[in-house]
Amino acid sequence: MSVARVDGSPEFGASLGRRLTIVRGENAYLWDAGGRRYTDLGATHGVGNLGASNPEVTEALARQARELLYLGSGYANPVRTEFLERLLSLLPSTFARVFLSNSGAEAVEAGLKIARSATGRKKIVAAMRGFHGRTLGALSATWRREYREPFEPLVPGVVHVPYNDPVALEAAVDEETALVLLEPVQGEGGVHVATEAFLRSARDSTARTGALLAFDEVQTGIGRTGRLFAFERWGVVPDLLLLAKSLAGGVPIGATITTDAIAERFRGSHHSTFGGSPLACAAGRAALDFAVREHLPERAERLGALGRERLARLPTEKVREVRGLGLLLGIELREKVAPFLAELEARGFLALSAGATVLRLLPPLTIPEPDWAAGLEAIDEVVRHG
Ligand SMILES: Cc1ncc(COP(=O)(O)O)c(C=O)c1O
Repeated sequence: MSVARVDGSPEFGASLGRRLTIVRGENAYLWDAGGRRYTDLGATHGVGNLGASNPEVTEALARQARELLYLGSGYANPVRTEFLERLLSLLPSTFARVFLSNSGAEAVEAGLKIARSATGRKKIVAAMRGFHGRTLGALSATWRREYREPFEPLVPGVVHVPYNDPVALEAAVDEETALVLLEPVQGEGGVHVATEAFLRSARDSTARTGALLAFDEVQTGIGRTGRLFAFERWGVVPDLLLLAKSLAGGVPIGATITTDAIAERFRGSHHSTFGGSPLACAAGRAALDFAVREHLPERAERLGALGRERLARLPTEKVREVRGLGLLLGIELREKVAPFLAELEARGFLALSAGATVLRLLPPLTIPEPDWAAGLEAIDEVVRHG
């Protein structure tokens, strides 16, 4: 977030320190204004699971744009219905109702409102290091003080417990709790993978107290962690599943998915003008078809395993730990990550941070294997000699 002008642009809210101007993308490659090609190891922030400008998604978009760009949610639309049916067909049969919006934060906001309304309670239990977005409700559940403090007072009643501490979680969840909100893998918070014991205790304590359990899979969804949805790995099924980022292959979308029984208990109203637009739904339908047909979760699992094997050889005097699941990987360094990211960029690879010392990798799940290997090699060199 910056109030300063970046490269003379009047844009407000851009990331600080941007140096590159990117003008084009294709699969795992992004080109700058000077025509230089970069390999994307995370530059699309987890939106590009299907690669940049995936041809099947762009074709579906072009077709839909000619047919009908926008339609209010007060009207039925076959493209929306088809997309929702396809999405639900990929989930456990308890999931039956979907609220469509335009971003991860909106998916979280809807989850918070549904939980409050369906339970009649206000307390939210979230995790330390968790990230759920920047709108006031989602920010209230987000952990990092720097993000929260300038905007306080936020939504009251949020309690943060240490991630992967089942005892602390069980102690925090009580008859006042509306919602337990967790990421199965914390992305922004440094790439931390949930333990099965932690997720099971979340499921058991919410079931016992009548609270709802939401998994924020905004970053882990659509194949990223080696399963179409990360929760499948543990077999712990939440009451609310929150999706966004790559769900529509690069077009803005958010989805809050729940059961019939919970939807029936919702009182009040919730709406978003652009939510469920035919454009996003056409893209979403094409994206889901592509992800399933091209076995993207399996690809993420295999390339992720290759990545972890290669990264395990990084020198321990530079690296504290390598963590992750599928193609969501974090390398915790013993020093600040920023210079390493700059050096990778100079070598033609764009990666991300997750906090001050973690190098985060979120490549497209379609990245050609030689490019992934080259990226890992570049990381090795940069870390070793940086
Ligand atoms: C786990 C998680 N939840 C929510 C969000 C917020 O999504 P958005 O930026 O689309 O509002 C993010 C964004 O990085 C995220 O990683």
